[in-house]
Amino acid sequence: MKVFIIGIAGGIGRRVAEQLAEAGDEPIGLVRRPEQAEALALGGIQTVQGDLVSMSIDELAATMRGCNAIVFSAGAGGKESDEATTRVDGDGPGKLAAAAERAGVRRFVLVSVFPEAWRERRMDASFEHYMVEKKKAETQLVLTDLDWLIVRPSALTNEPGTGQVDLGLAKVHTEVARDDVATTIVELLRTPGLNRLILELTGGGMAISEGISELTIRLGCGGGLSTDFVLRNADDRLD
Ligand SMILES: NC(=O)c1ccc[n+]([C@@H]2O[C@H](COP(=O)([O-])OP(=O)(O)OC[C@H]3O[C@@H](n4cnc5c(N)ncnc54)[C@H](OP(=O)(O)O)[C@@H]3O)[C@@H](O)[C@H]2O)c1
Repeated sequence: MKVFIIGIAGGIGRRVAEQLAEAGDEPIGLVRRPEQAEALALGGIQTVQGDLVSMSIDELAATMRGCNAIVFSAGAGGKESDEATTRVDGDGPGKLAAAAERAGVRRFVLVSVFPEAWRERRMDASFEHYMVEKKKAETQLVLTDLDWLIVRPSALTNEPGTGQVDLGLAKVHTEVARDDVATTIVELLRTPGLNRLILELTGGGMAISEGISELTIRLGCGGGLSTDFVLRNADDRLD
């Protein structure tokens, strides 16, 4: 599987790329600085130098042509200006989706955010702007005909992954390790039946592959699972 990752040098993006490369898949993504390309190349990860904001839709389409899926895990929120938040977090996914349609890449996984994240902390205006832009991006993607999947992780940590999460349609916002978010995204890329859904992802006690399988069965999205597996679990539920 060849996967185009926007944000490939970032916390989640790099982990997704590394896990894909380790499994023999082909991650590729945009980097803004040559030293990021060099660092990723050491792990056998291919990159293209470019900037989501300055590239045209045609240029982005040409870069991703031939890929099987896209992962959008870029973000300027909190680190650059509000204007950058608008261009990257807000307008970026819609722009990339337009490029995906042009390039014929149907599967699009967007890393978003819980709508209630840190609202109790009475964050500043820039944070509120970030939240508005994240929601705008979700809406733009949902309006496309792509096989989109939106994953909203809770607050990200750099703790080592546990291989366990809590994943579903609505979860309580706590914390989740970037390692586990990346593993979940990689597994979701391998589960094509789960699409056109918004999933919330937080730390938890269920093995990632098991959580995805359960969700697939519960939502009746059998594609991607063996018939044996679906029947076995359906039987279990009837017992
Ligand atoms: N932090 C949290 O607790 C939290 C919670 C929920 C969701 N999220 C979301 O999760 C996602 C990933 O988070 P993360 O911590 O892994 O992010 P990160 O480490 O900040 O990585 C973001 C990446 O996006 C890239 N990027 C920014 N602007 C770009 C542009 N114009 N063109 C191309 N690439 C660009 C950055 O490139 P450079 O390296 O060149 O800067 C960086 O590599 C983000 O969308 C974030 O909003 C975060």
